[in-house]
This record gives sequence, structure tokens and C-alpha cells, in this order.
Amino acid sequence: MPVEICHKLRYELGFWSCEWHQSFTGDHRYPAQATLLSKLGGTTREASLQGALFFINRRKSMKRMLSGIKPSGELTLGNYLGALRNFVNYQDEYEMVVFIANLHCITVYQDPKELRQYLKDAVALYLASGLDPQRSIIFLQSDVMEHAQLGFILACNSYLGEMNRMTQYKDKMAKGENALTVGFYTYPTLMAADILIYDPDYVPVGDDQKQHVEIARDIAERFNNRYSPTFKVPEPLIPKVGARIMSLSDPSKKMSKSDHQDKGVIYMLDEPSVIRKKVASAVTDSIGKVAFDPKEQPGIANLLQILASCKNTTIEKILPEVEQLNYGEFKKVVADAIIELLEPIQMKYRENVSTDLLEKTLLDGKLKAQAIASRKLKKVQHKVGLEIFKK
Ligand code: TYM
Repeated sequence: MPVEICHKLRYELGFWSCEWHQSFTGDHRYPAQATLLSKLGGTTREASLQGALFFINRRKSMKRMLSGIKPSGELTLGNYLGALRNFVNYQDEYEMVVFIANLHCITVYQDPKELRQYLKDAVALYLASGLDPQRSIIFLQSDVMEHAQLGFILACNSYLGEMNRMTQYKDKMAKGENALTVGFYTYPTLMAADILIYDPDYVPVGDDQKQHVEIARDIAERFNNRYSPTFKVPEPLIPKVGARIMSLSDPSKKMSKSDHQDKGVIYMLDEPSVIRKKVASAVTDSIGKVAFDPKEQPGIANLLQILASCKNTTIEKILPEVEQLNYGEFKKVVADAIIELLEPIQMKYRENVSTDLLEKTLLDGKLKAQAIASRKLKKVQHKVGLEIFKK
């Protein structure tokens, strides 16, 4: 293949270039490329060129989406319904970039051994839920150091007043937590870097992360005005149902993985018997009628939301099927729906968790993510005047 085409392809391919390069040099360690080549029926340079063109066209025609989950505990049903399931659904239509936000985990102290397990489980659950390394870029945040570097630059373009207005920060301050870390305080600027470094069009998140995406947009706009257009300003994408799953034991509180003591939190890896128990003891009311009234019946409204979301439908459609039931019968229907949804994922998780698929996926994802992130970071560093010589 002529040298100019090689260079052009390498440039155009961006993140795919590492895979393409591997195939060109005959090293097929990377699963996506290996599969593609086998589909194309060969391992020749021509097949490699076709593969490269396939990726260019695919990439050019798709909008990009990016999101992440912070496994500071075991992933919950809320994480699945509010975020993970949507990542999986979007991966055919969008170029999906999904990461494990491990740097964000340590903004609050984590036991290292426990954290490693949470991270491993999170990758296994991403894959078990249907995220496909051949269609999505899946990686560990700390593997792509450009996030932290851009995070610092963005922190220098953000203000204390903005950080002070963040709900998560305000909530912790209101609770009188006095051991908050500096990392926790500047969390939104790192999250802005996570997003902006990939120029996504959309950021699919649950309701509680909307404010973080909005601040990322503000920072992007400020940077673009100050230094010239650099970052795409992305839109948050919030699901219609399942955007805020509440705790079963206190429906005024979000179901959160950090609440280890709370039996109102359903974890993605909870056994069916545990799920049944937790749903059976969910807080309800004395009204005794299954209806959607979040103000008067927050517990029942939350269970209805969970049911509709598990069944991939709306509350209006599901309500006629359950409004005649008493609370005990209704809870059984909800528990069945959760188990039906989670059991196949748990089975896949058990198949994957001890294989080398996790490591391979993260290595592959790291190379692809890095190829995008490093280009963007170079551009940013040049714009702010950090580089003396043009590279
Ligand atoms: P995290 O780990 O708290 O939550 C991950 C995703 O799950 C959603 N979610 C919920 N949705 C519905 N009901 C719930 N009870 C519930 N709990 C959590 C969250 O809205 C989120 O979409 N800061 C982020 C991680 C992150 C990130 C990013 C996300 C870091 N960098 C860049 C997007 C883009 C976080 O702590 O999510």
C-alpha cells in the first residue's frame, strides 16, 4: 500500500488506527479487527484496507455518545435502569464511548481491595448487560491519563462559585461532613474533561447527573469563547422512565450504591430471594390502592416506575394491569419483573467474570480512547499556550 495512503488512513482513522495498524502489521490480538477480518474473509493488506474504510464510513455517519459509571460500590438497579441499559440500546445507532469512572471513586476513601472488586464487577456487568466491545469503546478512566490532564486545565477555567453551587457538594456540606476531599470538590471539572475530551453529541445519564453535564456545557462554552471553538457542547440525554429510581426503604432518597446498609437498594447481583425480600419490605402507605401519585404515595409510585422501566413501557400502560392488586400481590409482580430482567445478566456475569475477556476489553478500549483523547489534549494545550514548540 502506498505510503501516502497509509498516512492518510492513519490520520483519518483516529482511534481505529491502532486496530488498523495491528492488522496491517499482521498482529491480530485485537478482537474487533480480528472478527472484521475474518468476516471479510482474509488477513491480507487489502482486507485491512477494506476494514479501515469500513470503520471510516461507520464513524463518519454516526453521532457520538459518551457516558460512565462510578463503581464506588456494587452497581444498582438504578444504575442499570437509569444508565447502563440505555448505553446498550444506543450502541447500534451511535458511536458509544463508555468508561468506568474509577478516578471519581477515590474522591471518597475506598478500601483498595474492595475497590478493585467493584471495578472488575462493573466491567463484567457492562459486558453481561450487552455492551459490545466491537461496537462500543469500553475503558477504565485512569488508563487514559489525558482525562486528568484536561481536568486540571478545565479546573483553571472554572470558578469556586460554580463548584459551591453543585447539589452533591451542597448536600454533603448540609449534612455537616467535614472530611470532604479537594478531589470531591473539583469532581465536576474532571467530569467535564471526561466528556469534552471526546466531543460527544450526547451524554446519556440519569436525572441526578444532569447538573454535572450542564456544568460541562458551561465550561465548554467558556473555553470556546476564551480560546476559539474547541469543544462540542453536548446534550444530556435523560430516559423518560427510570431516570430516578428511589430507595425502597425511603422513597424520598435516590437508590444509591453508596448506601451499603440500606435494604432499600437492589444490587444488580442480588440473588432472586434477596430481591423478593427487599421488594416485600418496600415502604408503602395506608391508602391501599395501587395508583401513581408520587406526592401522596411515593413508595407505590416508585415501585410503579421500577415495574414500567423493567418492562420497558410507560406507567400509563402498566397501571391498568396492576391497579386491582393489593400491595402484597403488586410487590410480587414487581419482584418478578426485576428478577426476569436481572437473571440473564447475572448468568452472563458469572460466565465472564473469570475469563480474560475483561482485560482484553479494557486494553482494546484504552487504545481506542487514547487515540481520540491525546489528539484533543494536544489541541487544547496548544490553544492555552502550554506548548512552546508545535508537535
Ligand atoms: P453514578 O455512578 O452515580 O451513576 C451512574 C449512572 O447511573 C445513573 N443513576 C441512576 N439512575 C436512575 N436512578 C438511580 N437511582 C440512579 N443512580 C444512578 C446516574 O444518573 C448515572 O447516569 N459522575 C458520574 C460518573 C461519571 C460520568 C462522567 C457520567 C464520571 N464522568 C462523564 C457521564 C459522563 C456518577 O457518579 O455516576
